[in-house]
Amino acid sequence: MSKQDKSNVLSICKKMLICCLFLYMCTIIFLNNSNLLSTSQTRTSSKIVAQTNISHLVFGLLGNERAWHHRKHYVEAWWRPNVTRGHIFLDVPPRGDLLPWSLNSPPYRISDDVLKLVRETNHVDPRVLRMVHGIMEVVRQAHEGVRWVILGDDDTIFFVDNMVDILAQYDHTKYYYFGGHSEFILSNYWYSFHQGFGGAGIILSYPLAREFAHNIDLRGDISGFLSYHPKSLLTSLHHYDTVDPIFPSMTRAQASFHLLKAARYDQSRMLQQTICHHRSKSWTFSVSWGYSAHIYEKIMPRSWIQRPIVTFRTWQRSPTKPQYMFDVRGPSWNPCEAPHVFFFKSVEKTPRGEIVTTYTRGWPRGIGACLSSGNFSEEYVSEIHVYSPAIKRIQIDKCECCDVIHEEGSIKADIKYRECKINDCPSSDLLSSLKFTTLPSYDSQTSTSSNVAQSKSSTNISHLLFGLLGSQKAWHHRKSYIESWWRPNVTKGYLLLDVPPQGDLLPWSLNSPPYKISDDVPKLVDETKHVDATVLRLVHGIMEVFREEYEGVRWIVMGDDDSIFFLDNMVDILAQYDHTKYYYFGGHSEFILSNYWYSFNQGFGGAGFILSYPLAKALARDMISCLKRYAHLNAADKTTMTCIADIGVNLSPLLGVHQIDLRGDLSGFLSSHPKSLLMSLHHFDMVDPIFPSMDRAQSGYHLLNAANYDQSRMLQQTICHKRSTSWTFSISWGYSAHIYEKIMPRSWLQNPIETFKTWGRSPRPPHYMFDTRRPSWDPCEAPHVFFFKSVERTPRNEILTTYVRAWPRGIGNCSFTGNHSAEYVSEIHVYSPVTKRIEIDRCECCDVIHEAGSNKADIKYRECKEDEIIA
Ligand SMILES: *[C@@H]1O[C@H](CO)[C@@H](O)[C@H](O)[C@H]1NC(C)=O
Ligand SMILES: *[C@@H]1O[C@H](CO)[C@@H](O)[C@H](O)[C@H]1NC(C)=O
Ligand SMILES: *[C@@H]1O[C@H](CO)[C@@H](O)[C@H](O)[C@H]1NC(C)=O
Ligand SMILES: *[C@@H]1O[C@H](CO)[C@@H](O)[C@H](O)[C@H]1NC(C)=O
Ligand SMILES: *[C@@H]1O[C@H](CO)[C@@H](O)[C@H](O)[C@H]1NC(C)=O
Ligand SMILES: *[C@@H]1O[C@H](CO)[C@@H](O)[C@H](O)[C@H]1NC(C)=O
Ligand SMILES: *[C@@H]1O[C@H](CO)[C@@H](O)[C@H](O)[C@H]1NC(C)=O
Repeated sequence: MSKQDKSNVLSICKKMLICCLFLYMCTIIFLNNSNLLSTSQTRTSSKIVAQTNISHLVFGLLGNERAWHHRKHYVEAWWRPNVTRGHIFLDVPPRGDLLPWSLNSPPYRISDDVLKLVRETNHVDPRVLRMVHGIMEVVRQAHEGVRWVILGDDDTIFFVDNMVDILAQYDHTKYYYFGGHSEFILSNYWYSFHQGFGGAGIILSYPLAREFAHNIDLRGDISGFLSYHPKSLLTSLHHYDTVDPIFPSMTRAQASFHLLKAARYDQSRMLQQTICHHRSKSWTFSVSWGYSAHIYEKIMPRSWIQRPIVTFRTWQRSPTKPQYMFDVRGPSWNPCEAPHVFFFKSVEKTPRGEIVTTYTRGWPRGIGACLSSGNFSEEYVSEIHVYSPAIKRIQIDKCECCDVIHEEGSIKADIKYRECKINDCPSSDLLSSLKFTTLPSYDSQTSTSSNVAQSKSSTNISHLLFGLLGSQKAWHHRKSYIESWWRPNVTKGYLLLDVPPQGDLLPWSLNSPPYKISDDVPKLVDETKHVDATVLRLVHGIMEVFREEYEGVRWIVMGDDDSIFFLDNMVDILAQYDHTKYYYFGGHSEFILSNYWYSFNQGFGGAGFILSYPLAKALARDMISCLKRYAHLNAADKTTMTCIADIGVNLSPLLGVHQIDLRGDLSGFLSSHPKSLLMSLHHFDMVDPIFPSMDRAQSGYHLLNAANYDQSRMLQQTICHKRSTSWTFSISWGYSAHIYEKIMPRSWLQNPIETFKTWGRSPRPPHYMFDTRRPSWDPCEAPHVFFFKSVERTPRNEILTTYVRAWPRGIGNCSFTGNHSAEYVSEIHVYSPVTKRIEIDRCECCDVIHEAGSNKADIKYRECKEDEIIA
């Protein structure tokens, strides 16, 4: 390679790097609903009187006078004067060429005197203080009819229409806190896995913002209630100022206006990735609407192209992998792997009412053609025209599909967008020999009997179909885990066994799910050439459950035989989603390395994953073909995820689904559950029994005793204080209660105490996907520990759960809060309402009733007062 070539390659490399990263950032920051970090996954729009529009949003942009001179262009690119509401907050009054103030900029305000605030609060960091205080300054402007308050930096581009469309799906009268994680794992570890990274924008519902503003106290520990830190990955859409211009041969300011050109026609498709294939040439087109288009000279599946190419640098030095919170693929100079790159040039509306976006080649690829797929060079194509409907596409449960129209030798290629066909799998005929794979025999039946219930009746347990994957050998001791939650003749579904049950399993217990024997695995191995018979059996099991054809099934739930499911919560969550759409619900692993080894996009199957009926149907149709396509993959959950990605659907993670990739004593984890309905606990067999002096089977039944009274509060953490003795009570409903001899804020107690160990070897932190507290023997930090003992209904129609001391703490008193020992308290009685609490936008509060000297303490649950702060 000559020197010239090398520098060319380098410059291409650099450009690629930036655009890949940029693309990725954009998708994760705003366009991917499921990545929003919400205080609850409850979605509702029912109670909203008038549809949310742009006038209900108020922005607070935090900037400084010096940077505004060049950053104002980024904001003016998306700001709509006299339409968008809000202000830019400057540190000092504008000077020089900023005056007169541009009419296209947001009006400005000067931040409150920071030095004075520092003196008043003794805060250590004036920059952090100014930003947190900014929230209050935005809210006190007293805007009429504000529903959502959005804070961001002045080098962030917001896509306002999308924001409105997403926020319109939520009830603004509840407490919501939306934001994004950092893409860089160590940033989440250093700051918090709970925080929305502020530079990219955080969104607060108005009641929450107002409350925050009224109670702002920068003297205390603010980091947990609402951490606000401007740093995230070095190059993100937010750090627009530090990346190279995102379009070649434009300045940053020009590039931001250019990007917004397409956004003005259709924000809903902005940067959405749409993939289609030109089979005769073996070309794959991947369009990122309004920004770029890539052409690969090989047929590539969506499951692969959806991963960003790892060409970007980490925000700071990160010696070990994993570095990112997502799956990546390595950059490549192999002509079969590296794309031809095109950039957005122009957008217009055709006379036929379509939107056409044009993309032109960024640079010649110059590395030859891909020989293995037929030596069809694509180098001569210089322009791509993409035709998309002029209808917004807000509900993106499934991606769009497209067709390629390209005449032999033409320098132009046309792409037409359309909805995917029902049994259209973008890559199911990846290998042309598989194109005509015969469909499984159940197919003809399903197409006639419309199982997708048209009725709008709300989802109940009869709409769920379970498939539990077990083995004859393990069932002897695992059956008690399943029988603890299975409701005979109510829950529908099967246990799939490898071989028929023997010995003491016969006669088959009536309290167990009915069993089926898995299909002939050796025959399937033969047919698919799959490398791993176990993986094949597990994945194929989804189809075996699906084809059982129950009347009116809406959701297929797959899980392992050592998992506990909380059925009522599952029904309550699923009832909020439209089962006629494509949904893939599941949970991440708690252990970072598991996500890295397998995938950040997969639902870990032991904990259970849930497929809506149309998705399960599409997956069942494609099953054999997909097992052939990915015959080399030796992980079942990853194979499932990959097949689903090729259907055009991605994981929507649920925080109450627990793989429990942890070992040892789980009590710390279960005592600080995330604020989300508990759905499942897996790996029951691998951890210590969760209650002291009980075995695993007993523990399972014991936990379900409480769950049978109220699943919605199960493991929900509720915190209250007894100020006279400086005690903090933290209840994990139905499981444990802790007393601390010090007033502790919720922001701290919500982090689990690390009583557990990692699932596998993990040489250095971060180990977990959440924040933790180290166990401590300091009497001011270590809790008195109580465990759930009994549950009953009181005559006054409350639910009373009782928790008893597990062991004497025996490490003395917390002396600096006044030597108020809690050692003599031996029982805690918790009174909670009988009404379910499904919509948990905000946690519950409680009051402590305790007479000095009594060995019993009563806790009464109630809704939090509007201005209540739990600290
Ligand atoms: C937004 O909705 C309000 C009603 O809440 C209405 O008065 C206003 O005209 C709407 N504004 C726009 C821009 O649609
Ligand atoms: C915004 O409104 C003000 C006064 O209402 C007016 O002077 C100004 O021209 C308007 N700006 C734009 C860009 O329409
Ligand atoms: C690939 O195609 C190019 C022209 O399209 C031709 O010059 C070259 O010899 C071909 N290579 C192979 C290995 O067929
Ligand atoms: C569930 O809903 C269906 C209607 O879709 C109804 O026929 C059935 O009785 C309900 N089952 C239960 C257990 O409520
Ligand atoms: C379930 O139904 C079957 C037959 O319908 C019945 O024999 C059995 O006793 C029922 N089981 C329970 C636990 O109710
Ligand atoms: C608590 O007790 C210790 C020793 O018993 C004593 O040194 C300390 O001063 C006491 N603290 C308070 C606040 O009374
Ligand atoms: C702890 O406090 C109790 C009273 O609450 C007191 O009787 C006891 O002596 C204290 N213990 C220590 C070590 O200070």
